[in-house]
Amino acid sequence: MNEAIVSHDSDKRDPKQLVAQGYDQVADAYAQLEHTATWPRMRWLEKLLALLPARAAILDLGCGSGDPADIALAHQHHVTGVDISEAQIRKARQNVPSGTFLHADLGSVAFLPGSFDAVVSFYTLEHLPREEHAAIFGRIATWLKPGGYLLLGTEAAESAGSVGTWLGAPMFFSSYDSATVQHFIRVAGMVLQETAIEHQREQDHEIAYLWILAQKA
Ligand SMILES: C[S@@+](CC[C@H](N)C(=O)[O-])C[C@H]1O[C@@H](n2cnc3c(N)ncnc32)[C@H](O)[C@@H]1O
Repeated sequence: MNEAIVSHDSDKRDPKQLVAQGYDQVADAYAQLEHTATWPRMRWLEKLLALLPARAAILDLGCGSGDPADIALAHQHHVTGVDISEAQIRKARQNVPSGTFLHADLGSVAFLPGSFDAVVSFYTLEHLPREEHAAIFGRIATWLKPGGYLLLGTEAAESAGSVGTWLGAPMFFSSYDSATVQHFIRVAGMVLQETAIEHQREQDHEIAYLWILAQKA
């Protein structure tokens, strides 16, 4: 997403509020983006699907509209989705009637330890202030059952935090480089199974994302 951003580093508006309002505004435009290109998300999801037990409990952090990942997961599994945008959660409830969708900040939402066979999060971590990222991986590890999986797709570049215009709305971005993200996941008690940097097309840009499949030790 970052190449489409006009950065305003001095913008001091609340990042969470900006992102929530931003996705309320761009939910339809975001849904259209993927119609013109094939993104790697579903290929990585296939890897996870091959590893899951029957009727697994899966948590999707930053679930968006649930299309396409949660729709695919819900064919055989139970999905719990969390999203900070009311518009996205409304779409997810329509797209995945069997799922449980929570309108909440994934940085503060809570679940009981050992609740999930897998946690997935696609294109979302980079919307949270990076000071929260290490703690989020720690909480994900707690929510996973022993042997449970994390599937993550996120931007991985040094960015302390900036606000720009994305799909016509103000949007917040913040991220660490790929080595730091992998370090956080290991420290949280997960073992990296597979990692890759993959490029995908968004509008007229090629954007690099870090993909990680990890397993709770
Ligand atoms: C780029 S969209 C990705 C949606 C979906 N995961 C996908 O694969 O298409 C990012 C989503 O993360 C959500 N999000 C951003 N920050 C969040 C936060 N702090 N808590 C929960 N959801 C958040 C946004 O509202 C948006 O729906």
